Amino acid sequence: MAVTIEKITTDEELREAAVLAGKIWHECFVGIISEEQIDYMVEKFQSYTAMKEQISDQGYCYHSVRDDGELCGYIGMKPEEGSRFFLSKLYLRKDKRNKGIASQMLEKVFSEAKSAGKSSVYLTVNKHNRHAIDVYIKKGFRMIKDAVTDIGGGFVMDDYIMEYFL
Ligand SMILES: CC(C)(COP(=O)(O)OP(=O)(O)OC[C@H]1O[C@@H](n2cnc3c(N)ncnc32)[C@H](O)[C@@H]1OP(=O)(O)O)[C@@H](O)C(=O)NCCC(=O)NCCS
Repeated sequence: MAVTIEKITTDEELREAAVLAGKIWHECFVGIISEEQIDYMVEKFQSYTAMKEQISDQGYCYHSVRDDGELCGYIGMKPEEGSRFFLSKLYLRKDKRNKGIASQMLEKVFSEAKSAGKSSVYLTVNKHNRHAIDVYIKKGFRMIKDAVTDIGGGFVMDDYIMEYFL
């Protein structure tokens, strides 16, 4: 197992990440949100076009996670105004979980946040995404508050906000 985590710099890599995103979201959110909401959120936030716009207009960067060269996960993140760094996406294909890759992904996030001069990393996680919440708590994130966000289309995100102090 040779894991590499690299910034996505080409359209081709971003298209590949968008395909993977659709697959992971349709696996991991079943039973947490409806299929309709998964379709809506993938199109709105994780399609190639959406991610391209996040990178060009909103300060996001995406990283690919590869195991022996094969794409198996991705990270989306961005520095915010002030002292915080936003971990927007942390996604790993199911067959690659429980192997220590998530911790390497989080190390990458923390190092990017430090390089950007930030003092904390925060994220939003669905209240019913128990495994991810347990992982974040184990890795040192603290629950800050909850947030219900209207994302249009008749859908809301029902999340906890968690924060890690660097
Ligand atoms: C979230 C995600 C990236 C975590 O990856 P993972 O491979 O499942 O995580 P791991 O099993 O490597 O666990 C990471 C750490 O949490 C710990 N952990 C895992 N499950 C735990 C549990 N139930 N209780 C306590 N600690 C736990 C592990 O021991 C490990 O700690 P260590 O590296 O210090 O030993 C992955 O599950 C995923 O992609 N899920 C689907 C997408 C998703 O929900 N993303 C988050 C959206 S906010």
